[in-house]
Amino acid sequence: MAEKTERIVNPQSQDTDKLFDFALRPKKLSEFIGQDKLKENLEIFITAAKKRKEPIEHVLLYGPPGLGKTTLAHIIANEMNVNIRVTSGPAIEHSGDLAAILTNLTDGDILFIDEIHRLNKVIEEILYPAMEEYALDIIIGKGPSARTLRLDLPRFTLIGATTKISLISSPLRDRFGCIHHLNFYQDEEIEKIILRSSNLLKLRTDKNTAAEIAKRSRKTPRVANRLLKRVRDYAQVKGSGSLDESITKKALEMLEIDDFGLDNIDRLILSAIIEKFNGGPVGLNSISAATGEDMATIEDVYEPFLMQSGFLHRTPQGRMAADSAYSHLRLKPKNKNFKLI
Ligand SMILES: Nc1ncnc2c1ncn2[C@@H]1O[C@H](COP(=O)(O)OP(=O)(O)O)[C@@H](O)[C@H]1O
Ligand SMILES: [Mg+2]
Repeated sequence: MAEKTERIVNPQSQDTDKLFDFALRPKKLSEFIGQDKLKENLEIFITAAKKRKEPIEHVLLYGPPGLGKTTLAHIIANEMNVNIRVTSGPAIEHSGDLAAILTNLTDGDILFIDEIHRLNKVIEEILYPAMEEYALDIIIGKGPSARTLRLDLPRFTLIGATTKISLISSPLRDRFGCIHHLNFYQDEEIEKIILRSSNLLKLRTDKNTAAEIAKRSRKTPRVANRLLKRVRDYAQVKGSGSLDESITKKALEMLEIDDFGLDNIDRLILSAIIEKFNGGPVGLNSISAATGEDMATIEDVYEPFLMQSGFLHRTPQGRMAADSAYSHLRLKPKNKNFKLI
């Protein structure tokens, strides 16, 4: 069995990211690069709330991992000058957990629930009156003598983050005053993020080097920062310590990440679809069986970027490799009449 190592281009947060994430996380909206439309909206939203001296409305942030949802939640708290309490859907197991969190908030505080799509139904229902009327309904006693006691809660703001908006029930979704989608970044924006991170890490990185890393970063800031860290390590061991184009290229080659940011598992998935299933359409379970990768991981981690970069299409019949996947992997369609859509 292959050894399970941390995948460098995995956009999900890994243990080794924690310290690094914290150090490189922008603290103010003005330091947050890209997502211009979203930033503009938030700026207006925050300024208006501050003028009215009111807490901001509940915010739902959604989009693939590593694009800045957690960062934005902290930035909003910072810009509003309020405390932020951080938890996550799976961490709130019992209704008492949520009740304890809610009653410990103070006016204006932000409650950040990451992976909010993983909240269980019972907990979700406690959130409805809390979000809408700042009230907590507690049931006292059992059976016919049970009574509901209503407690007033501070006027807090809920910020929810999710990678799976489709799993958020509509009653929950409707209770958010604003819902924002985070998009993958442009390469130039990733370049700026790399230069900013280099600066914070006191690394001298020129623009070409940043561009070289950016193009392999899967349009994702977390991946960009992680690659930068790996290239830095490589340069310290094999080079003079400064990041030039040639040492960067060598480091990236060693990490087996190609010009498009695909690693060997991405390439394995594409070549399996092409070579074993004639390019598709093929179901997720077959791809999983052919590659030995878990279905959920393929769907959540690999596919979004493969689709975003046009290597893979999702059709009602299944997944299909795109023309660009053949040329990128230098593979030819087996069937000459095979026409790609
Ligand atoms: N727009 C941005 N500008 C600069 N750095 C960013 C930006 N978005 C994300 N990052 C960096 O990427 C890392 C991952 O972002 P994070 O907010 O944890 O993503 P998510 O919560 O969406 O998975 C952060 O530590 C931060 O350093
Ligand atoms: Mg996050």
